[in-house]
Amino acid sequence: MVFRFMTLERHIIDAERLHPEATGELSKLLSDLAIAIKVISLQVNKAGLVDILGMTGDKNVHGESVRKLDMFAHDMVFRAIDHGGHLCIMASEEEEDIIHIPTDFKIGKYVLLFDPMDGSSNIDVNISIGTIFSIYRRVSPDGTPGTMEDCLQQGLEQIAAGYVVYGSSTMLVYTTGHGVHGFTLDPALGEFILSHEDMQIPQKGKIYSINEGNHNYWDTGLKNYIKYLQDEDSKTERPYSSRYVGSMVADIHRTLIYGGIYMYPSDSKSPKGKLRLMYECNPMSFIVEAAGGRATNGQKRILEIQPENLHQRTPIFIGSKEDVLKVEEFINNSGKTNS
Ligand code: AHG
Ligand code: MN
Ligand code: MN
Repeated sequence: MVFRFMTLERHIIDAERLHPEATGELSKLLSDLAIAIKVISLQVNKAGLVDILGMTGDKNVHGESVRKLDMFAHDMVFRAIDHGGHLCIMASEEEEDIIHIPTDFKIGKYVLLFDPMDGSSNIDVNISIGTIFSIYRRVSPDGTPGTMEDCLQQGLEQIAAGYVVYGSSTMLVYTTGHGVHGFTLDPALGEFILSHEDMQIPQKGKIYSINEGNHNYWDTGLKNYIKYLQDEDSKTERPYSSRYVGSMVADIHRTLIYGGIYMYPSDSKSPKGKLRLMYECNPMSFIVEAAGGRATNGQKRILEIQPENLHQRTPIFIGSKEDVLKVEEFINNSGKTNS
């Protein structure tokens, strides 16, 4: 048996070597990002201790304001990456506007969009949360400050995307469009080690994931689909199981490994859905498609949506190909019964 010990850094460098035109910049960018993620992971693991370790009011022992973990994660990513010379612009779910690279630093050719902390409502109850990132090549001229246009590219244009789950272990999953690879953080070594090589999503699963509390607001097609999943039919492995963590990263991570479908639809309460195209849906769709899955808003492939603003929302149906095709069939035949 060949013993393999592949760190994230080595994996990224090896992957870039396959492309002779590569400059190594993307590797360096991802390595900078990995450092921020390790710091966030350490902080996440201490989340429950914040009150115990002497934080009174909003000041910590250093006299600094205690910030919410999502602001902390946002700052960590920004600070790990702003001076690397790889980016021309960033945008974060936590900031209204695009984030320029400080003028004293070199301006690079990449664009970073990120959701620093996904599933924040789960922080206080020790349930998995995550970080999501998305990387594009700039479209504005090199050497100039990045623009909104650099950020508002279709998901198809991503050159890399990834997510981190802070779960029972911390895991980073990324793709550059070919192959999806998962790395588990070894807390003793402080290194991400390849643990899930070339992840492939099953073509069909038996788990569905949706916030069923919104049932009354759904349209008929979706109600019929969920009813269909709950009906018994051994040939199609129904009834499906229902699982919903409430952290998109964790729900999609499970879907990627076990198969099935994750949904955050539009409904009469949220006509545009809830999840954000640029920080959540595009990167997760890029990853799931690279693993052989499918992601749509019901009518259109997520990656083909032309973004109009940074924080726009979209409905999403994502997961195993057969399961996503099935929900599309139901929602596009609203009211009719499918079999
Ligand atoms: P965020 O914490 O980045 O704002 O994202 C929360 C999102 C997503 O992670 C999760 O799947 C979804 O909100 C849960 O929404 P509901 O509570 O409406 O089910
Ligand atoms: Mn989120
Ligand atoms: Mn968030």
